[in-house]
Amino acid sequence: MAGHGFVTNAGPGPIAPGPTPDATRRDFLFVATGAFAAVGAIFAVWPFIDQMEPAADVIAAGAPLTVDVSKIPPGQQIVVIWRAKPIFIVHRTPALIAELRKPAALSLLRDPDSKEDQQPAYAANWSRSLKPEFLVAVGICTHLGCIPTFVPTIGDPTLGADWPGGYLCHCHGSRYDSAGRVFKNVPAPLNLPVPPYHFVGGTKLVIGENPTGQKFDISSVEQL
Ligand code: FES
Repeated sequence: MAGHGFVTNAGPGPIAPGPTPDATRRDFLFVATGAFAAVGAIFAVWPFIDQMEPAADVIAAGAPLTVDVSKIPPGQQIVVIWRAKPIFIVHRTPALIAELRKPAALSLLRDPDSKEDQQPAYAANWSRSLKPEFLVAVGICTHLGCIPTFVPTIGDPTLGADWPGGYLCHCHGSRYDSAGRVFKNVPAPLNLPVPPYHFVGGTKLVIGENPTGQKFDISSVEQL
């Protein structure tokens, strides 16, 4: 994978160069988030890609990417590459979903209502998503561009009893909830961007295309 120029890990640090035309199907997925690293698992990620059509270099150039989200276990994340950017896809548990609306958790956030232009209109809601069960967000910290680590455990002992589950950016300590909403009093200024996406048949997630009748261009966000 490394030879293809893709991001190959989700740890702290700047984003690696974008894809090259000889990319393979496997290059479109990588999983090395904190959650997976913690259990020492190398996830068999390639089955999530529905099919390698269009070809890898076409996807790299911006074509939509289809992912079968039915295979993501609750509470876990996969990361795919779209337009050379890591895209976080999380299957949120009922407990994580409940945290998204708790007043105490909301009080930690800088932009809990997604008023800043960091997402399509169809994701400017309480779950910042089309389906509360699934987060889809660009996995690039809005501070200086590191890749945050997924920490899904509510009340994680290292992050405090009020931790709602979400993301920690190790670079300078920014935090986000499991909707990608940034905390107050951290270096990152904005929520994680949400790319255009829609679902086909309930479980096929198409990244890079809006739902019918919707218009949103990822380049329109305040900060990518
Ligand atoms: S890049 Fe994430 S906190 Fe600085």
